[in-house]
Amino acid sequence: MIKISPSMLAADFANLEQEITAVQLAGADMLHIDVMDGHFVPNITFGPDVVKSLRSKTDLLFDVHLMIKYPLQYIGAFAKAGADIITIHYEAADDVRETIGQIHALGKKAGLSVKPGTPVEEIYGFLPMLDMALIMTVEPGFGGQSFMRDMLPKISSLKQKILDGSLHMDIEVDGGIDRNTAKEVIGAGANVLVSGSALFKQKDYKKAIEELRATSASAAL
Ligand code: DX5
Ligand code: ZN
Repeated sequence: MIKISPSMLAADFANLEQEITAVQLAGADMLHIDVMDGHFVPNITFGPDVVKSLRSKTDLLFDVHLMIKYPLQYIGAFAKAGADIITIHYEAADDVRETIGQIHALGKKAGLSVKPGTPVEEIYGFLPMLDMALIMTVEPGFGGQSFMRDMLPKISSLKQKILDGSLHMDIEVDGGIDRNTAKEVIGAGANVLVSGSALFKQKDYKKAIEELRATSASAAL
């Protein structure tokens, strides 16, 4: 089953409540919330207080992507704010195991992400602890960038590793996902699609999500 996680980074920030309601009615499975600190990535977005305010507006799963240094310091705040899945970056934490442990201790699902330049094999040792792995298909920091096709082999080797280990976890892909690239990442083994600009630039979110699902379903066959 393919899950669609619209990236709020591409939403209208002056109307977040309406945007969330609209993607929920359009059939989104969860909401991708990009947290950036201006250090791990050269951009700044929102913190736990914004997540907390949004929490009262929807019951959609909050898929929180932390592009921040020292994530361990902030797990408690994001968990308390209402995150359901908390994904940290492998490159941002010295204490990956401890941070994942903390996410689970707070009753949340844990994800681990790799930037385009990081070989996926580097996170294989953590797979048994994870609920999700996130393969970045753009350099993290900004929406609207072009999909990096050379990341596809990372998705397929991760998928194979998961199958070989009889593990149960999601493979999320983030960056430049549209109707066409969705087909490619699903074909390679991903099952959670983040879509920002390709989705929000369309007037009809329902149609956009349906189209993503339809192409994904054909690729999964
Ligand atoms: C990039 C973010 C993405 C971004 C994706 O650093 O992690 O979630 O919003 O946006 P699009 O779909 O426009 O590439
Ligand atoms: Zn993201």
